[in-house]
Amino acid sequence: MKIAIGSDHGGLDLKEAVISVLRELNLEFEDMGTHERSSCDYPDYAEKVAVAVASGAFEQGILICGTGIGMSIAANKVPGIRAALCNEIFSARMARNHNDANILCIGARVVGPGVAQEIVKAYFTSGFEGGRHAGRVAKINALDTRK
Ligand code: RB5
Repeated sequence: MKIAIGSDHGGLDLKEAVISVLRELNLEFEDMGTHERSSCDYPDYAEKVAVAVASGAFEQGILICGTGIGMSIAANKVPGIRAALCNEIFSARMARNHNDANILCIGARVVGPGVAQEIVKAYFTSGFEGGRHAGRVAKINALDTRK
């Protein structure tokens, strides 16, 4: 599985903590920035990661900003993206089990590195259950084409 990961300045340190878990889990990733501590705009990185996932070049994405809210709102604007803001472990598991989420968003000012690492582990060791959830996800996907 290839994972695209991005953050703004507020998520930079947590991104490093998350990357160490990706290495531990032997998951392939590409860090799409930011690589700077200077202030930047989270929608720019949400777009990079969301487009990379929506194009099919990457199967999953991770986006980190101060709260995770801006990243999730921006990423969900890209057709085909199901970005889930998960600042605790139960939501991370359910985002995969029930929603077939393809981008995990985390708030660096909400959770510490230890919790974030457990969130990442829960998310990437969980899978979509399909069944009754498949039709619901199909309805989400159909919203992309509505005017
Ligand atoms: C940046 O200050 C902050 O607004 C951003 O990281 C994020 O929390 C937005 O949702």
